[in-house]
Amino acid sequence: MNYNNILVDGKKPTATITINRPNKLNALNKDTIAELSHAFKALEKEQEIKVIILTGSGEKAFVAGADIAEFADFSVKEGGKLAAKGQKILFDLIENLSKPVIGAVNGFALGGGLELAMACHFRVASHNARMGLPEVSLGVIPGYGGTQRLPQLIGKGRAMELIMTAGMIDASRALSYGLVNHIVPQEELLDFCQKIANKIANNSSVAISYAIKAVNAGFKNDSNGYASEIDAFGQCFGTADFKEGTTAFLEKRQANFPGK
Ligand code: COA
Repeated sequence: MNYNNILVDGKKPTATITINRPNKLNALNKDTIAELSHAFKALEKEQEIKVIILTGSGEKAFVAGADIAEFADFSVKEGGKLAAKGQKILFDLIENLSKPVIGAVNGFALGGGLELAMACHFRVASHNARMGLPEVSLGVIPGYGGTQRLPQLIGKGRAMELIMTAGMIDASRALSYGLVNHIVPQEELLDFCQKIANKIANNSSVAISYAIKAVNAGFKNDSNGYASEIDAFGQCFGTADFKEGTTAFLEKRQANFPGK
């Protein structure tokens, strides 16, 4: 697939996906969502890619929301479909991806943009980042998982206030809320994320994929997080990574994970 709205830099073991519509503050239109979905699926299959960083191009925005121009005249049915499809092909896909996804929030992350950042496994922000869910100011609500992931990340009361006021918080408030894990100067953002990615890449990618599954299971209504953890923990014992990790520890050497 040829991408027109995103850039994919597959420098192993980390791939960086950059949403590249800076003139529209990287707003998520239908094509961008489809391209992102395709890119994540393709990178998930690439054995040598261990971590994915997601960011926006330019100095102003990560993503300033879903593309308002595209859905302004939608009907009830079309609105429902928009949310259902987007959640399935992109937001849920990222959250449940077997490889870690770091959101590098380099500016505005609003509406669908914050929802996209929240679908990532964790987030790092630059100092200029501003985050919010302004949907109710447009007469709509967050539709890409924002009403669920924001309370999970920052607590129900804070999420309610942020959604109801349609307000924006700056990076330091986002840090104090636990919405982002770190704040760094914008020019250091990608290097900083890359350093975290390198640390992650030294570990067992198979074990990490099981950990993602177990953590996510606790936030789903139809699954039991503890039971999922027990199952995933047991599965680890059947992997080559587990044999290598434990053998390397006992032999007092660095593990070299085969990734199986
Ligand atoms: N959808 C479509 N286009 C968007 C957009 C969005 N969510 N966010 C920004 N853009 C476009 C603007 O229409 C403008 O395009 P134009 O130059 O062709 O007119 C361009 O991006 C630059 O945005 P602009 O508003 O001029 O920048 P600003 O610095 O004055 O304001 C924001 C920045 C983020 C405060 C403002 O763009 C904004 O409020 N965007 C919408 C945020 C939102 O409500 N998102 C939730 C959607 S559900």
